[in-house]
Amino acid sequence: MSYEMLTVEHRGAVGLIQLNRPKALNALCAQLMQELGRAVAVLDADPAVGAIVLTGSERAFAAGADIKEMKDFTFADVFAANFITRDWEHATRVRKPIIAAVAGFALGGGCELAMMCDMILAADTAKFGQPEVTIGTIPGAGGTQRLTRFVGKSKAMHMVLTGEMIGAEEAERIGLVAKVYPAAELLEKALETAEKIAGFSRPIVAMAKEAVNKAYETTLAEGVHFERRLFHSTFATSDQKEGMNAFAEKRKADYKHA
Ligand code: CAA
Repeated sequence: MSYEMLTVEHRGAVGLIQLNRPKALNALCAQLMQELGRAVAVLDADPAVGAIVLTGSERAFAAGADIKEMKDFTFADVFAANFITRDWEHATRVRKPIIAAVAGFALGGGCELAMMCDMILAADTAKFGQPEVTIGTIPGAGGTQRLTRFVGKSKAMHMVLTGEMIGAEEAERIGLVAKVYPAAELLEKALETAEKIAGFSRPIVAMAKEAVNKAYETTLAEGVHFERRLFHSTFATSDQKEGMNAFAEKRKADYKHA
């Protein structure tokens, strides 16, 4: 599979996607989003891959939707093309864990893309923002919903209504980011984290991911019920037997992903 606006590499059991449109700070144009959708689907289907890392450049994870490409779109255009819905949300459908490793700008659709991933690891240079209001529109790739769930109403309102950026430290403090690293270490740490996850049982990891994601979609009682059923299901896997026996026998578990 060949790509023009991103690269895909295999690092052990981790699939690494790097957005590569440097001239536009990885602005998310139609071609880039189509390529990203394909790359994510290919890695999700690859049995050699246990986790995915999505990253950008040192300067920008992504500076948002491509403003120059969309500025003349009419309502009829975006409605007919099902803009955003059609090509942007592949990351939300991946069953394997997907980590956003963010350095530099993650603005507008860039911030939204990072939030579609399962966790955000950030360089100390990262800057997050939803600046759409400054260009006469609003977040359109889930920003008003996901950001609010991440950081609460007041912070989300501040970011969405002022368009101001926040730095990595603040992003970690308010719960948008899981961890912050010195910029030079970000990719290595993200790959390490992904490799660690990829070393666990794949079906168990997928169940854990589904259970956490359920918290965003349901009531507490239903979410806990869903979790309980999945927890019970783990006892039907050989990996649960292996994991617990390995603990009892003081050895490393050898998961068969079954
Ligand atoms: N779309 C298209 N091109 C973009 C872009 C974007 N979102 N962001 C940056 N670029 C381009 C610039 O036009 C510039 O291109 P030229 O060299 O051809 O002029 C190049 O990338 C470098 O950018 P700057 O010269 O502006 O770099 P800077 O360091 O001075 O500023 C920045 C960096 C603060 C990120 C600034 O580029 C910026 O504000 N970008 C736009 C951010 C934004 O508003 N994003 C939201 C987009 S709307 C959206 O995403 C909707 C949605 O929810 C789906």
